[in-house]
Amino acid sequence: MKSDQKRWDERFGGKEFTLGREPNPFLKKHIHLLPKGKALDIASGEGRNAVFLAQNGFEVDAVDISEKGLKKAQKFAREKGVKINTFLVDLDRHPIGKERYDLIADFYFLRRRLIPRIKKGLKKGGKVIFETYLLEHRKLGTGGPKQAKYFLKPNELLRLFKDFGILFYREGIFREGGKRKAVASLIAEKR
Ligand SMILES: C[S@@+](CC[C@H](N)C(=O)[O-])C[C@H]1O[C@@H](n2cnc3c(N)ncnc32)[C@H](O)[C@@H]1O
Repeated sequence: MKSDQKRWDERFGGKEFTLGREPNPFLKKHIHLLPKGKALDIASGEGRNAVFLAQNGFEVDAVDISEKGLKKAQKFAREKGVKINTFLVDLDRHPIGKERYDLIADFYFLRRRLIPRIKKGLKKGGKVIFETYLLEHRKLGTGGPKQAKYFLKPNELLRLFKDFGILFYREGIFREGGKRKAVASLIAEKR
């Protein structure tokens, strides 16, 4: 959507990394559980997770609607001496393809209609790693999206991947990356 693009380009326009350079803590902690190979980082933003995956030996495709975010991600990858492939796409329309990826990472981008495409895009035995806010997060006053549709209901993420093998799931309030957040985090395998 054009309005998303404008909003995120504005957010990512400055020199500072709005979402930080450090990878998501859940991704960092569980990197050893993830199958090496071809990875897709959904809504990759400024590239903190895409670059971390590339540093850990993955061949990374990073997709996002923000050109500013993708440019920053490319520059960040160069600084770190790794390569990532970036694609400017609108994930409300973008077809991920069939059985292309060993790993699909989705951090803080909840579009329920995208879930079937994530499942289709994974190879058999491929894994998804997903983390985003729970509705409960709104009470904490520590940032996050405005619209209720972008928050998970209790156990919703687990239900969305109920046809996958669940390797790890957690739900609750955690203090990570310097702030309190109410999130659900999942690692699941396509069988
Ligand atoms: C909260 S940020 C998360 C970024 C990244 N996953 C991370 O954790 O650092 C949400 C991202 O979704 C992207 N985005 C929003 N709408 C999009 C759309 N329709 N298609 C693709 N990306 C979109 C934004 O540009 C932004 O980078």
